[in-house]
Amino acid sequence: MRVLAIETSCDDTAAAVLDESGVRASIVASQDMVHGKYGGIVPELASRQHMVAILPVIERALADAGIGLDDVEAVTATYGPGLVGSLLVGLQVAKGIAFERGLPFVGVNHLEGHLLAILLDRPVAFPYLGLLVSGGHTSLYLVEDIGQYRQLGRTRDDAAGEAFDKGAKMLGLGFPGGREIDKRAAGGNRTAIRFPRASIKRGGYDFSFSGVKTSLRQHLLDGGTHALDDVCASYQEAIVDMLVGPTLKAAEDLGVTTIVVSGGVSANSRLRASMTDAGTAAGFEVAFPRFAYCTDNAAMIGYAGRARLLRGERHDLTLNAAATLPIGVDA
Ligand code: KG4
Ligand code: ZN
Repeated sequence: MRVLAIETSCDDTAAAVLDESGVRASIVASQDMVHGKYGGIVPELASRQHMVAILPVIERALADAGIGLDDVEAVTATYGPGLVGSLLVGLQVAKGIAFERGLPFVGVNHLEGHLLAILLDRPVAFPYLGLLVSGGHTSLYLVEDIGQYRQLGRTRDDAAGEAFDKGAKMLGLGFPGGREIDKRAAGGNRTAIRFPRASIKRGGYDFSFSGVKTSLRQHLLDGGTHALDDVCASYQEAIVDMLVGPTLKAAEDLGVTTIVVSGGVSANSRLRASMTDAGTAAGFEVAFPRFAYCTDNAAMIGYAGRARLLRGERHDLTLNAAATLPIGVDA
């Protein structure tokens, strides 16, 4: 089944084509330049930009795959969670193509796309532990099968990506901040400043990042004299430690063999190194999607959507965008 997948949940306009041989094309048009000067995503601008970019992005994906719209056999798109104005653009275009061509259509949960992104690169046996770390989400899931997710933990306040982005803003770095801090941290000393690590005693595998953000603010207000690279490396280290701790504990408690990290923050070089070292030492296999499939993309939506379409799942074309859309049930 040759599937056209569309993703516009936040600030990236993305389209992909997948068939039985895998990803035939994956195009992402980033809006970083548009939002950069505001230091964060402006929802109204994001949806307007999606409207400008969506058709050219789909055309490029089809051209890269060497096919035309006539060759598309099914359509899938993200329908939540995300910014409603952004989601609506991709979802309406997908439904429009499905309606006009009489093609099967299914909507995909963005979080499911992230959790399954690893499967675009390599097989992983179920169940696996999935740590999803992005700009809007930080949650831990037991991925039992496609469509079967048990939420084990979540952030009590900010998402890890938010802690990176807000920290970067305080430090006068660009947007999105995660990548900027990652770059700066490469040349810094991660033990220069000991930022506090929140530990949530009751609540199992939950996370919290508001404390480390506050202590960075306090450090700056106190007129900290450390080099910027050292501040970045120390701040990044605290966030990474707080992600690795509960994840390893859950992996041990649940007895899984593989830990999969996904979402935009999984592109972080220190998180990749630290989770791999600690996880491997504890006897787990640790897997990360390739960089292009860590941050938002339509290939991962295509993977989840195609699997559902092959099972015969369909959504009615009345399917609406949903700002919040949980997956799985709490453990
Ligand atoms: O998954 P994603 O592209 O969009 C959401 O669904 O939120 O994640 C975006 C987040 C942003 O907060 C960004 O700062 C963060 O991922 N990010 C990183 C890195 N690259 C992107 N955070 C830390 N280190 C990176 N290298
Ligand atoms: Zn995402």
